Amino acid sequence: MSTIFITGAVKNTGLAIAEKFAENGYDVAVSSRKAADAEKCAEELSKKYSIKAKGYGLDLSDVDDIIRVFDEIKNDFGRLDTFVANSANLGVDEDLLSVTKEQYDDLMNVNLRGTYFCCQRAALIMKEQKKGSIVIMGSVHYKSSIWGRSLYAASKGGLASLTRSMAFELGQYGIRTNYLCAGAIKTERWDNFTEEQIAARRANWPVGLESTGEDIANGVFYLGTDLSKTVSGTDLTIDSGIETCLLPYKGGKH
Ligand SMILES: NC(=O)c1ccc[n+]([C@@H]2O[C@H](COP(=O)([O-])OP(=O)(O)OC[C@H]3O[C@@H](n4cnc5c(N)ncnc54)[C@H](OP(=O)(O)O)[C@@H]3O)[C@@H](O)[C@H]2O)c1
Repeated sequence: MSTIFITGAVKNTGLAIAEKFAENGYDVAVSSRKAADAEKCAEELSKKYSIKAKGYGLDLSDVDDIIRVFDEIKNDFGRLDTFVANSANLGVDEDLLSVTKEQYDDLMNVNLRGTYFCCQRAALIMKEQKKGSIVIMGSVHYKSSIWGRSLYAASKGGLASLTRSMAFELGQYGIRTNYLCAGAIKTERWDNFTEEQIAARRANWPVGLESTGEDIANGVFYLGTDLSKTVSGTDLTIDSGIETCLLPYKGGKH
């Protein structure tokens, strides 16, 4: 039986990824900063898909906690085939000129340091199996900027570099690593937008529609399984075409 571990998977994109792999017969480990939420989510996945699922309380800003959780996953499941680094501090509205050391550490300790050590621990398990796939959830912010997201963009840029280093160093152990570069994904945050705000957002994208969690999960399923067995160190962009726009999108001639 194959096993996947997804961080921050009790809701939104992480949960959609967990569901996608569970419906394809994977055993599933999920984490949340709230252990009770992770356990409840695992129980529901287990019942719904008749698979083994376990939830773990995990604070990504604590490297010792990361080591503990990966050790527990190895004991509980005996293997790890796919790891998805999904948890992130979205770092909204942090003006570059007034970012403090505390804000920097808060975000980087989760997004970059936490993800780095999660990937390292996942790779140590996969190395013993001589096989595994790691998918890092990335963002178009690593290439394109909007106001207030400099820390987030820097963290996602670091992860894009990490993806390539991991693909290079870990290929010899049968481990592939890829980056899923997402544009806009519909989550609970969209519940706060008015219809006009949603229409204005969609008008910025050639595809005219944001991704759902399922759209992203389909990409992660490709990268996380043998469907992509010769793909490593790459960036799969699922962004409604946003990266094609040099000028604000108007749907025709500028
Ligand atoms: N939504 C988008 O438009 C979008 C676009 C591009 C890329 N992405 C990326 O896609 C992934 C999933 O995004 P999403 O929007 O579905 O995410 P989300 O649910 O907001 O975040 C994923 C999980 O990360 C954990 N998390 C959030 N803030 C945290 C913090 N400050 N410290 C530690 N953990 C924290 C939360 O899990 P717990 O609270 O349960 O621990 C959360 O459920 C992320 O890596 C994100 O950067 C999202």
